[in-house]
Amino acid sequence: MSDVPSPHRLLAWYDRDRRVLPWRAPPGEAADPYRVWLSEVMLQQTTVAAVLPYFQAFVGRWPSVEALAAAPVEDVMQAWAGLGYYARARNLHQCARTVAEWRHGRFPADEAGLRQLPGIGEYTAAAIAAIAFGRPAVVMDGNVERVMARLYAVTDPPPRAKPTLKALAAALTPSDRPGDYAQAVMDLGATICTPRKPACGICPWMESCQARRAGIEADLPARAAKPERPTRRGIAFWTVSRAGEVLLRRRPPKGLLGGMMEVPGTEWRDEPWSLADAGAEAPLPRSALLADWRLLPGGVRHTFTHFHLELTVATARATAGAAARGSWCPLDRLVEQALPTLMRKVVSHALAKGY
Ligand code: ADE
Repeated sequence: MSDVPSPHRLLAWYDRDRRVLPWRAPPGEAADPYRVWLSEVMLQQTTVAAVLPYFQAFVGRWPSVEALAAAPVEDVMQAWAGLGYYARARNLHQCARTVAEWRHGRFPADEAGLRQLPGIGEYTAAAIAAIAFGRPAVVMDGNVERVMARLYAVTDPPPRAKPTLKALAAALTPSDRPGDYAQAVMDLGATICTPRKPACGICPWMESCQARRAGIEADLPARAAKPERPTRRGIAFWTVSRAGEVLLRRRPPKGLLGGMMEVPGTEWRDEPWSLADAGAEAPLPRSALLADWRLLPGGVRHTFTHFHLELTVATARATAGAAARGSWCPLDRLVEQALPTLMRKVVSHALAKGY
């Protein structure tokens, strides 16, 4: 019976059972900082399964940081579409440019240097320093917090317990193979020490886990009461030209879905909209339409970090040559647009209803 968790025990488990992932170097080889950086930016707030096809597409198309830096930002945004948090794609491109132009394509090797770069925060800097450069950085994400909370039976909810969890994680981080160790804790959190029903019976740290000993592993980490997400509402205007094109516009560069394309719509607010009060926000005046706006039955629901959104879709056909703010896109070229998931739902909804 061992009381003290051993990093080496975890590493032995990792050597046997680690997940094979395309940004990981084969055992004993150095990882490519470009691939590590790209994967870590993609993996923030998203699962490995969701990231894999995007990662493969990015490295297939842009195999080096110089190649990514040379790409037009619109292409990067379009390739990112569907992954969410679009400011990250813009920062990713900005970061690639900085590294390619100012650092001869080489990423800084320590956390302080990495944090100077666009889009690299505390977590990403620590992850890259450890995984790509073998620095004993303390890598904290949700998985690591959960593993530490259980291992040491920390019963405070994570926001308050964060400094404690980080200190515990720091004390455990070995100077030998810190990158493998960081990824081992992540793999443990993703495959064994899962949020629900952890598989303690096969855990390499089973014998040193204090939550397991106390029988409280399923209750940790403690969950802080979450504020309710409000629901916001809007109308999206699906406008089709005589030539079979649909009207799109680019969102402002800053803010939610910044710089992405969208089906033009109203502001998103708490109260439901009627067509009568939405009319002033329509992208074309009534005089440019064959018939007035018509609401499609049903709608689209999407959840952002801080609110739910319900969009209803209004449709109309525009008369030939109607000038518009925005751009007309042929229906069969919609797939090429940098449309975020929310807007893909709007497209599917309109098409499913025959528009
Ligand atoms: N989640 C974030 N970074 C990861 C990594 N390098 N391996 C596995 N899961 C991760």
